Amino acid sequence: MRPDDEVCLCKHVSQRKLVNFLLREKPPCASGLAECLGAGTGCGWCVPFLKQLHEQWRNGEVPAVSATPDNYGANRGLYRERRRAEKAAQAAAETGSQ
Ligand code: FES
Repeated sequence: MRPDDEVCLCKHVSQRKLVNFLLREKPPCASGLAECLGAGTGCGWCVPFLKQLHEQWRNGEVPAVSATPDNYGANRGLYRERRRAEKAAQAAAETGSQ
């Protein structure tokens, strides 16, 4: 990803904003990145990538997501479809058990 590509597509948070937040705020755990414009608080797709960025930063590496923006966005779409189907199946199961 390039610096201005969005890592959190739900909250429109770019990799550059996340990296600057890590360098400035030094959050002790990856969940602290939610303080950066709400990153990771939408669908949840980006959370593993936020953890990756945090881990890279903690290890003294240059934090960078190693996905192309197109693949990243397409895989998020699949993730959201799968989550929707799981929720629908769960709701149907709960309705059927009553
Ligand atoms: S892409 Fe970050 S919460 Fe959905």
